Amino acid sequence: MNLQNKVALVTGAASGLGLASCKALAAAGAKVVGFDLEEGKLKEALGDRMMGIAVDVSDEASVKSGVERVVAAHGGVHVAVNCAGILGPGKTISKGQLFSSELWNRVLGVNLTGTFNVIRHAALAMTANEPDETGERGVIINTSSGAAREGQMGQAAYSASKAGVIGMTLPVARDLAEHGIRVVAVAPGLFESGMSAGMPQKVSEGLLEKMLFPRRMGKPDEFAGLVRHIVENAYLNAMTIDIDCGMR
Ligand SMILES: NC(=O)c1ccc[n+]([C@@H]2O[C@H](COP(=O)([O-])OP(=O)(O)OC[C@H]3O[C@@H](n4cnc5c(N)ncnc54)[C@H](O)[C@@H]3O)[C@@H](O)[C@H]2O)c1
Repeated sequence: MNLQNKVALVTGAASGLGLASCKALAAAGAKVVGFDLEEGKLKEALGDRMMGIAVDVSDEASVKSGVERVVAAHGGVHVAVNCAGILGPGKTISKGQLFSSELWNRVLGVNLTGTFNVIRHAALAMTANEPDETGERGVIINTSSGAAREGQMGQAAYSASKAGVIGMTLPVARDLAEHGIRVVAVAPGLFESGMSAGMPQKVSEGLLEKMLFPRRMGKPDEFAGLVRHIVENAYLNAMTIDIDCGMR
């Protein structure tokens, strides 16, 4: 899909990979709308050229109203990039305490249900688009993680949520194919962002050692470049792309 004058919605837009995706899609000619929890942070991150809407992806009513506002402002939605996510670390059992059900539900609620909330409401809006010259109506990109397959200690909830994102990508792509909508997941390894900055240094150093070349964190622009490529390459569908520098 050619991004020129298309409408792109990006969640987790106030920071890290979501913010970089907003900038890359805008640079490719899209009208970008960012969703994140706080309008103030969105404004600070996106500036005046991009619209920001306070949306909690784990709350379906909030997502529905956010997507409606995008359609009202720009006439439709062509691209949806799911970047909102939280880590919610904790061991299954620690010092005699269970991993809390509340934290489990929150991590799954944001990372997994939140992704599906955006998929459903964005896809419904996309079905109203006129197909473009390649027959496409929309592209949806989901952010999983290397932790989906190889989570670290303390990542039970996070890994489960991110494995769910990979799991849903194929069936959702099958569901939406008849509408000319593609669905692709991206599984990053370790990237510079608010999330990785919050990790204990020991954990991030341990992960860096597992990288091949270049042995460094990924840069948000490298993730965003892949997001742009997925939108522009009509033959990518129903799969998960690892962007992890060989980290295993
Ligand atoms: N940084 C990494 O190394 C890495 C690796 C693998 C996967 N990921 C995934 O990439 C995505 C982007 O993360 P990041 O690294 O840019 O982290 P980040 O913390 O810098 O950005 C995440 C953004 O999501 C927002 N957010 C959190 N909960 C939300 C909610 N309920 N509704 C709306 N927005 C919400 C946060 O406010 C924040 O701005 C996440 O899904 C994360 O799990 C990141």
